[in-house]
Amino acid sequence: MFPFTDSSAAAERISFLRKEIRRHDALYNDARPEISDWEYDSLYRELAELENRFPQFDDPSSPTKKIAASPLAAFEQKPHRSPMLSLDNIYKEHDVPAFFSRIAKGLQGEPPELFVEPKIDGLAISLLYENGKFVHALTRGDGTRGDDVSQNILTIRSIPRSLPEGAPAWMEVRGEVFLSKEMFARLNQLKEEAGEEPLANPRNAAAGALKLLDPKQVARRGLNAIFYSASGSRDLPFSDHAGMFAFLEKSGFLTSEKRWVAKTAEEALAAIRELDSVRRSFPYDTDGAVLKVNSFAQRELLGFTAKAPRWAIAYKYEPEKAETRLLGITVQVGRTGVLTPVAELEPVLLSGSTISRATLHNQEEIERKDIRLGDFVVIHKAGEIIPEVLRVLEEKRAADTVPFSLPDHIAHRCPSCGGPIRKPEGFVAWRCENFFCPAQTVTRLTHAAARKALDIEGLDDAVAEKLVSSGMATSLLELFDLQEAALADLSLDPAQLQDGRASKPRRFGEKRAATLLASIRKSVSEIPLNRWIFALGIPQIGETIALEIARLHASFDEIPNSPLLEKVGSLAALKTWIKNNPLTPKKTKISEEESAFRKAKKEKLEPLVAELETELAPYKISSELGEVAATSLREFFCSQNGATLLEGLKKRGINPKSANYAPLPERKEESGSPIAGTTWVITGTLSKSRDEIADELRSWGAKISGSVSKNTDFLLAGESAGSKLEKARSLGVKVMGEPELRLVLDRCQTSRAAP
Ligand code: IVH
Repeated sequence: MFPFTDSSAAAERISFLRKEIRRHDALYNDARPEISDWEYDSLYRELAELENRFPQFDDPSSPTKKIAASPLAAFEQKPHRSPMLSLDNIYKEHDVPAFFSRIAKGLQGEPPELFVEPKIDGLAISLLYENGKFVHALTRGDGTRGDDVSQNILTIRSIPRSLPEGAPAWMEVRGEVFLSKEMFARLNQLKEEAGEEPLANPRNAAAGALKLLDPKQVARRGLNAIFYSASGSRDLPFSDHAGMFAFLEKSGFLTSEKRWVAKTAEEALAAIRELDSVRRSFPYDTDGAVLKVNSFAQRELLGFTAKAPRWAIAYKYEPEKAETRLLGITVQVGRTGVLTPVAELEPVLLSGSTISRATLHNQEEIERKDIRLGDFVVIHKAGEIIPEVLRVLEEKRAADTVPFSLPDHIAHRCPSCGGPIRKPEGFVAWRCENFFCPAQTVTRLTHAAARKALDIEGLDDAVAEKLVSSGMATSLLELFDLQEAALADLSLDPAQLQDGRASKPRRFGEKRAATLLASIRKSVSEIPLNRWIFALGIPQIGETIALEIARLHASFDEIPNSPLLEKVGSLAALKTWIKNNPLTPKKTKISEEESAFRKAKKEKLEPLVAELETELAPYKISSELGEVAATSLREFFCSQNGATLLEGLKKRGINPKSANYAPLPERKEESGSPIAGTTWVITGTLSKSRDEIADELRSWGAKISGSVSKNTDFLLAGESAGSKLEKARSLGVKVMGEPELRLVLDRCQTSRAAP
């Protein structure tokens, strides 16, 4: 804090702080924060205090006068019935008795009873229920209007669609959407493996998920929500916070794991301390304790300031950090060859565990933070679990350090196989290019063995590791050459034992060897093409895309030179160019010359796009098979490694056939199933999960797409269907509910039964 006495120095500082806070707001909204929330709060506090002391510099557009960022453009905006306010913050224990006395004073001596509950570090959400039925879910937006994210919110299973008998005429229920810490860790691991930019914390991950326009993708992220307030019509059946919690819980809403009642400032402080000691075991991030007056009558007496209620306050905990030294950087190799730098640290205690390693994510991240070998660093736990280097203590840096370069550090060779490395355009990660790299092979083997791929029983991480390190199977192909006797003799390292006791070397054994080989043989004869494609672990090719590729190709032979994939790739690339080069961009200004160039190019590209679209239309290719996937596939199959693999499979007599081959989907007249080749979009809440319904429809030859377009034949709309339903109606797409779906599926059954 700056002890300004001179007002021109204060003016300068105020202007700097406003600019700086706006910059950090923008970075935060872009999910790329540069400073921790704690550091942000202290800038904010300093500004608020200066503005208070120098009211002559008041400005209504100052960040301190705003409640939150403006809503996203892509969702429909709707008004909140009552504004979504913020909370004032306190940071020091001595602020608690001060808050208590302020409340007591406001209540003219009437003793207040406070609730102390966790402050969840998620995204504020407000749900509206009318006569017991869910109406919509809005984000905070600017506090008075928010984005309607109902579709995405309804992917959260724990949110009730309707309330039990006796619900009030209307009610706004407020809480926080969050991504569990565990889910966040998993998501970031996936991102790292895919060579993508990791997310800073669960809050950003949840924000990213909530902003997705396709609820199907949102559902995959596993968001959850917790609620702490409800207000509405006069017939609400409670008159204090305790009653409200009981009502929320009875109605099926999740509420915080713990809360305390405090009748004195001492009790409130004890609760704040106890919460701090247990909050790390909660599935969500917490960054403070919220103190609230229990009685609603007392709340009314206390009232509100412009921005926050006077009857509540947030006590913010100081985030835990530790200082240590970066002793070295090791580089790990993932399944798709992504090279991840890992900090080897001087062991240090942080939030109850000893940390000696921390992820450094990728070279760009290292450059951004300018992390150098030997540096003193500040570490924290992202999402309270993943140790991460936050920043470097430059003042402690030795004079002879140099910027770290991952490729130089490993002499431009993969640390596992010594092969060449590359950083593909558009990715933040360096990769090992050698498809047969042992480190990649181990994870590739276990991926191939997964249930959704080749479903090979008995090939877990430990066995894959041994197969590769013993040289018995150094590639996926060699899995098919394993001999029973040798496999039975495979030694399982005693170091694998959990308790660290030395024990006699263990053999894989005859029985396990026989099971594994039988399972491998079965995969050769029974597994269809789509699961083989998925099993190869090609970057960007998940199950759904693999299924679509198998629909378009009868066998592996057709894939490397597939004209269809080439066209899909070109079409998507052309469309991306047009989208990324608008003639009049919204955010940036472009020169007239540039605009003319774009216009000319667009005019040239548009007929090509139309031509490709017409050519591809009869194939009704799923939108998920776009440029990224098509390019990744072609790169893989046309590479030396891909060719070797295909050749090797053939040599071993492995030639899986597509089980869903139907490149030109025929209509019902020509095929057995009445819905073969039709394209469906599923939206809203249905009695079964969307995945289950999608699988059933696919089994009758239908295709499932994520978005409604003119190629959509049917929209299956469940409860609370939103924008997709509107779009389907505007395009004249036939809309069905679940009862009609049942009729259609019955017809599929009868058509199969017919001769
Ligand atoms: S009560 C009138 N309780 O923190 C404001 N808010 O920094 C009522 N938050 O806007 C808010 N946990 O989005 C309340 N247990 C909790 C909370 C909580 C997280 C959020 C909420 C609020 C923000 C203020």
